[in-house]
Amino acid sequence: MPNSAWKDFETLESYIAKEQSLHPQSRGVFSNLLRRVGLASKVILSKAQQAGLIGVLGQYGKVNVQGEQQMKLDVIANEIMKSTFMWMGHVFGLASEEEEEIIQVERRQPENSEYIILFDPLDGSSNIDANVSVGTIFSIRRRVTNGGRCTLEDFLQEGSKQVAAGYVIYGSSTMFVYTTGNGVHGFTLDPMIGEYILSHENIRIPDRCKCFSANDSNYQKWDEPTREFADYIRYGDDERYKKTTSRYIGSLVADFHRNLLYGGVFMYPADAKTGKGKLRLLYECAPLAMLAEQAGGAATTGRERILDIKPTHLHERVPFIVGNRQEIDLYEKMVREADRS
Ligand code: AHG
Ligand code: MN
Ligand code: MN
Repeated sequence: MPNSAWKDFETLESYIAKEQSLHPQSRGVFSNLLRRVGLASKVILSKAQQAGLIGVLGQYGKVNVQGEQQMKLDVIANEIMKSTFMWMGHVFGLASEEEEEIIQVERRQPENSEYIILFDPLDGSSNIDANVSVGTIFSIRRRVTNGGRCTLEDFLQEGSKQVAAGYVIYGSSTMFVYTTGNGVHGFTLDPMIGEYILSHENIRIPDRCKCFSANDSNYQKWDEPTREFADYIRYGDDERYKKTTSRYIGSLVADFHRNLLYGGVFMYPADAKTGKGKLRLLYECAPLAMLAEQAGGAATTGRERILDIKPTHLHERVPFIVGNRQEIDLYEKMVREADRS
């Protein structure tokens, strides 16, 4: 039986080129950016796969801007992502989970640089030493200022302004999943030839809540409607949740990818005391929210659509609840009722 994914010989390269041909005026710059993310992911994969052999497991010994211990692979993945884009003529600036400030990309002709790229170079890195799936998350936007150097204003845009978003998951297979606003498409890496092959075209989140995904050790830190929502799904008698199971990997990309394919809801709610979430808006929640909506799902803080949030600073953290539209609507309803009471 021939391998179905190979039936049309559709690779990430050819698929991007096909999407580009739908825009005759396109110069192919944007397609190049997506291709470069694909290349960077293969280099990150090669380091992650041999991490235990080349001594890059474990902590780097520094605390990053997030106040979290950096893993050696966080630093390596960050350098790979930065160097992938630094030379590209149309990239105006970069932002990374691992960098406190925005990164200027010096240009002789800055007027030709129109894109900014934000990324979480290695998501789930605390799991890397245990060989658990990790990922890279990226978000591509257009600049909004027209000076010679990018400014925070270029980065602090609502997620609805993203022109592309995606992730690579380094799991039992390596998959590149992205959207440019025309559906969500998944490509599986064929390691024998180093090509990403179209394997999941037009991913749609199935209309069933197969998995409930949250770090249960935070239950007491959640506010009342959030606890009520979790209890309703896990212990209620609603027919829809009779077969719902709990799954929590602790790598956002892996938890998100599973729910995208199986159906379900992932939540990292605010700590009721601080009112803050853990996950970062610009390069974790907004890109995944764009993918969720493009696949027929939704993403909310409970009180606001993730893609509507106007960021106030680069590493802003928000409560993040993402998955089937039905569960997101239910959660927002519970929050509204609690706010009214
Ligand atoms: P990162 O490794 O980029 O810092 O992200 C880690 C995040 C995310 O991947 C995951 O969903 C979450 O941290 C897990 O947090 P807890 O360990 O607090 O559950
Ligand atoms: Mn992350
Ligand atoms: Mn990270």
